[in-house]
Amino acid sequence: MQIKSISFSMKIYSSIDELSIESQELILQAKNALGKSYSPYSHFKVGAAAQLNDGRIIIGSNQENAAYPATLCAEQVLLANYSCLEKKSAIKTIAVSYLSNNGENNHPVTPCGICRQMLSEYENLQQENIMLLLTGQSGAIWEITGVNPILPLAFNSNSL
Ligand code: THU
Repeated sequence: MQIKSISFSMKIYSSIDELSIESQELILQAKNALGKSYSPYSHFKVGAAAQLNDGRIIIGSNQENAAYPATLCAEQVLLANYSCLEKKSAIKTIAVSYLSNNGENNHPVTPCGICRQMLSEYENLQQENIMLLLTGQSGAIWEITGVNPILPLAFNSNSL
């Protein structure tokens, strides 16, 4: 018997000013995407923006449905947009932000389990890490080097 530990490190910035201009811009785009959120049921808007290696930025926002489980998360809409691009370039970074009617708005948002799995598919496919910038309205920003650290032991195409 042996014990294996899995851990990861992330960078915690206390203010957006500590980030590169490129990262600041991407977070701004994620916040702009909140304006496209359709969230009449949860009143929890989520916006996501991806920077591609060729510099393009694409966005996504959560799209809810009266049949609640039919809801699409911001990250899922973003990835669907990405997969519709004619010319692909690897995803370098994804920023996610949120705006809630329900109180707390400053604690960084973290992708749900299904989003982690979907993000992992794309990271695995492109064989390049997707850096994550997780934010709220103000307050700390969490920077994580890839999707893999937040979905250890992921099921992917190699598992089939
Ligand atoms: N949501 C996202 O868009 N991304 C996540 O990673 C977590 C949750 C959305 C789904 C739903 O519209 C609202 O947040 C509340 O769960």
